[in-house]
Amino acid sequence: MQVIDNCEELFDFAQESRAQGLKIGFVPTMGALHRGHLSLVLAAKQKCDLVVVSVFVNPLQFNNPLDFERYPRDLAHDLSLLENSGVALVFSPSEDEMHPKPMQIGFRVEGISEGLEGKFRPGHFDGVANVVGKLFNCIGPATAFFGEKDYQQVKVINRLVREFHFPIEIFVVPTLREVDGLAMSSRNLLLTPRARKAAAGIYAAFSFGRGLAIQNEPSDEVLESMTNILIDRAGGEGAQCKVDYVAHVRGESLEEISLFEDGSRFFIAASYDGVRLIDNIGVFDK
Ligand code: PAJ
Repeated sequence: MQVIDNCEELFDFAQESRAQGLKIGFVPTMGALHRGHLSLVLAAKQKCDLVVVSVFVNPLQFNNPLDFERYPRDLAHDLSLLENSGVALVFSPSEDEMHPKPMQIGFRVEGISEGLEGKFRPGHFDGVANVVGKLFNCIGPATAFFGEKDYQQVKVINRLVREFHFPIEIFVVPTLREVDGLAMSSRNLLLTPRARKAAAGIYAAFSFGRGLAIQNEPSDEVLESMTNILIDRAGGEGAQCKVDYVAHVRGESLEEISLFEDGSRFFIAASYDGVRLIDNIGVFDK
């Protein structure tokens, strides 16, 4: 496995691979890797001839400097996981390499980025689009792999590819969960033991909401009950819980809707003892 930190070498590696007729699968990450990330790598190995993974904690997508500072980082551990997963190349650039200063040009994402996370993290999806656009340029993969866990991010990337004509297929991988249903996330490492237990309430709320949706209860009441589950579970564990949103949206447009329909999704964002988690699920998914 090669590990490189500059864009020129990355570009050369990718160009040579393509010249040999090899299809590159690309998995962008911010490191602190877990099995969720590795499921993306596995999907990439199955679909492509070689896999490139980027590990870069992208400052542009953090609206809160403290969140950026305390984001978990462990490159040595990440590299050992990736080596064992048969990755061909890891790209782990410095900030200056990825974002040469002064930055005068960038993508701005509207529409799809405005609801849900967009309301709570202004500029977040602009930051995501900018770094992913740069990485796509350097690597030129046949397919890039993203997790359904960050569903709104997938929608943003789909727009990016469509509007800027990147000849790249976007492949979406289902969310990998812990035994109690908590979605795997790098941020889970930051949870206190009581917050970790309380955070299982997110999946409990989803399960409860899905049950009521099948009985066709009005969605406002369902969302209220789901919020109560989050708060009660956290209270039971003695953890602080701040709910940013419990939403029911149309899967395609992400607009909030009140009647359940095919493709409906629940979205939750909540902080547990100050660690903010997001998750989503299809209301009628099997
Ligand atoms: P990061 O949070 O490291 O996630 C990298 C990829 O792994 C994303 O596509 C994310 O949706 C996916 N992922 C995370 N947890 C998952 C889980 N439990 N199951 C399946 N997939 C999961 O998302 C980012 O980084 C950044 O925004 C990035 C795209 C790298 C741009 O900086």
